[in-house]
Amino acid sequence: MADQLLSTATHEVMPENYIRPESQRPHLSQVITDTNIPIVDLGSPDKPQIISQIAKACQSYGFFQVVNHGLATELTLKMMAIALEFFRLPAEEKAKLYSDDPAKKMRLSTSFNIRRETVHNWRDYLRLHCYPLEDYVPDWPSKPSSFKEVVSTYCKEVRQLGFRILGLISLSLGLEEEYMVRVLGEQEQHMAINYYPKCPEPELTYGLPAHTDPNALTILLQDPHVAGLQVLKDGNWIAVSPRPNAFVINIGDQLQALSNGRYKSVWHRAVVNSNKARMSVASFLCPCNCVLISPPEKLISDRSPAVYRNYTYDEYYKKFWSRNLDDEHCLELFK
Ligand code: SIN
Ligand code: FE2
Repeated sequence: MADQLLSTATHEVMPENYIRPESQRPHLSQVITDTNIPIVDLGSPDKPQIISQIAKACQSYGFFQVVNHGLATELTLKMMAIALEFFRLPAEEKAKLYSDDPAKKMRLSTSFNIRRETVHNWRDYLRLHCYPLEDYVPDWPSKPSSFKEVVSTYCKEVRQLGFRILGLISLSLGLEEEYMVRVLGEQEQHMAINYYPKCPEPELTYGLPAHTDPNALTILLQDPHVAGLQVLKDGNWIAVSPRPNAFVINIGDQLQALSNGRYKSVWHRAVVNSNKARMSVASFLCPCNCVLISPPEKLISDRSPAVYRNYTYDEYYKKFWSRNLDDEHCLELFK
């Protein structure tokens, strides 16, 4: 129900059904803040160096940040501003868009999959399908008035950036530059605009608990002022400091499978804080449903046999949504 949206109220006391059992809490004091994930300068003329930085980052962290990526700062600032304006709309405006049905192609919702969960997450989100734009934009929110225009321009540019990165990832695996874009088919593009309100007890809950992304590639625009994203590396949680004008890129489960396990779709989570609301805008590039996910022959050998069985993305996505977000790595079920 729309009154479950967190962004329509202020919260002095932590509601019971957001409190995690002791063993599942974020233990924020143990998070490492002095190491950061690799930064790749896409504006560098040294393409071999870019490719080797990406290869290293994808094997070790499954995450990297890109700077000089070609998207104008003005556009990313406008995207963040419109997202914030959206969540500040009056409750009755937001109630019109509310749904807890994950099958809906446009929905304002809360937590992760609120119908199924017993413990909820401290997050509201607007989820949009973004490709092809002309099929979806007419149904997008008509308030704020520039929402459709700003968000569709942003989606187009992020898609181009994503394709460029998929090209660099292909090269970094020793494949031809077009490989991933070709095998992923006419890729779908989804977006989650996340709003994590101030939380009275950040130690007891999550914005999003640990998960891996089921898609191919995620391109995340982080709030430039408020930290919250954390990545698991060698058993430790590392906070990804917000960096103005950077995107955070992460390998999703499908690129882990298509790289025959060389690149990692790494566990990550979003934590909340009691001082400031946080926003993030995640864009997901997803294979077409009918695409058969099967590793390239070039990456298979006697010494390196296929790690996962072949499957369609449709099969994977259904399996992903039938589980809890923080269950075991979904790819484990496709061995
Ligand atoms: C996500 O994992 O999809 C979002 C993480 C974030 O808000 O930083
Ligand atoms: Fe994620």
